[in-house]
Amino acid sequence: MLVIRRAGQIFTSSDHYGVVENGAIVVEGDRIRWVGPDDEIPVSLDKAEEVIDAEGKVITPGFVDAHTHIPFYGHRADEFEMRNMGMSYMEIRAKGGGIRRTVQMVRQATKEELLEYNRKLVRKALEYGTTTLEGKSGYGLNLKDEIKQLEVLKELDETEPIDIVPTFLGAHEIPEGKDADEYIEEVISWLPVIKDLDLAVFVDIFCEKGVFSVEHARKLLTKAKEMGFRLKLHAEEFERIGGAMLGAELGAVSVDHLTAVNEEDMEALARSGTTAVLLPGTTFFLGKGDYAPGKRMLEKGVKVAIATDFNPGSSMTQNMQFMLTLAGIYMHFTVEEALKAATIGGAMALGLEDEVGSIEAGKKADILIFDVPDYRYIPYNYAINNLKMVIKGGRPVMP
Ligand code: NIG
Ligand code: FE
Repeated sequence: MLVIRRAGQIFTSSDHYGVVENGAIVVEGDRIRWVGPDDEIPVSLDKAEEVIDAEGKVITPGFVDAHTHIPFYGHRADEFEMRNMGMSYMEIRAKGGGIRRTVQMVRQATKEELLEYNRKLVRKALEYGTTTLEGKSGYGLNLKDEIKQLEVLKELDETEPIDIVPTFLGAHEIPEGKDADEYIEEVISWLPVIKDLDLAVFVDIFCEKGVFSVEHARKLLTKAKEMGFRLKLHAEEFERIGGAMLGAELGAVSVDHLTAVNEEDMEALARSGTTAVLLPGTTFFLGKGDYAPGKRMLEKGVKVAIATDFNPGSSMTQNMQFMLTLAGIYMHFTVEEALKAATIGGAMALGLEDEVGSIEAGKKADILIFDVPDYRYIPYNYAINNLKMVIKGGRPVMP
C-alpha cells in the first residue's frame, strides 16, 4: 500500500470529487483505493509500505495523450525552418517533403533502431507527465514497415512504464508512384493481417483534400468496423470535406484536428458522443491562427480532448503541460476545462475512461505531483516542466 498525503490540491478530473484541498490518496497495488481529505485517511499509516509527503504541492491524474505519431525515425528540422521562411506544410509536401520523407527514414531503420529511438521519445513524454499515450503506424505505407511500427509500439508498451494504445494508420499518405484509389484497396487488404496479429485497437485515416477523400475513408473504416476495430479519423485539419460527419455517422470513438469544422459538424459529434481530439500544438507549430473552436464544442456538449499530435513534421513536442497553455490562450478554456480535456478527455478518446484519466477509487494509480502552489500555475508557468514526480500504476517512475 502507498499513501500520498498532504497535497495542497488534488485536481481529480472527476465531477464527483472535484478539487480536494489538503488531500490524500491511498493506493493499493496499481489501483487507487481512496481519495479524500488528509484528516480522513481510512487506513492506518503504519500499514503503508510507502508514504509520500506531497508537501502542499498539486496532484493531478497522469496525462492521456490521445494523439501522437510515435513511432517515427529521424527528424525534419529543416522543414521547420522552411516553414518559418514562408513555405506552407502542404507546399513542402508537394515538393516531396513531409510525411514521405519520414517514411523513407522509417523504412530504412531496423526494428531495433526504431525501438531504441522511440524509447527515448516515450521516456521524455513520461518525464512530462504522460502516463497513457496513443501511437500509430503510418510511416511505413507498406505492410512490412507498418507492422514493424506496430510491433515497436507493442514492445514499448510491454517494456516501459507507460500504457500505449496502438492505431493502424496505413492510410496516412499516398506512397510515391501510387494513386489513392489503388492504395486504399491495398490498405483494406492488410486489415485481416493486422487483426490476426492483434497489433492495433484503432484504425485511422488522414481524410483531407488531396490525400484521402471521404469516400476512401468510408470504404476503409466500414471494413475496419466490421472486423472489430475501433475508429478514428484525421478530419477537417486543413479544409472541411466531411470527415467529422462521417466519423459521427460511423460511431468513431474520436475525430481529430477539426480546425475547419462548422456548427453542424459539432452538433453531429455531440449527438454521436464522438470525442473531438483537439491539437493546438499543431496549429501553433505550423504558425497558423485557426485553432479549433474548442470552447464552442464544450458549449454544444461535445466531449473534448486535447493532445500533442507529437510528430516530426507538424508538432514536435511531447509536452502536454504546454497544450494546457495553448488551450487556455487560443481556445479560451479555463484551466479546469483544459486539464480535464488532457486527462479524462484523452481517456474517452481512447475508450479508456473507466480505467484512467481521473483520480477516483478503482482507477489506475497514474498520478502526477507538480511543484506548484495552485493547479492554475501549471499552464501559467508555461513551456517548462513543472513536475516533481510521476507515479504510474502505483509506482513512482520519475524522477
Ligand atoms: O496529424 N496530418 C497528417 N499527419 C500528421 C503530420 C505527420 C507528419 O508531418 O509527419 C498530423 O499533423
Ligand atoms: Fe496526427
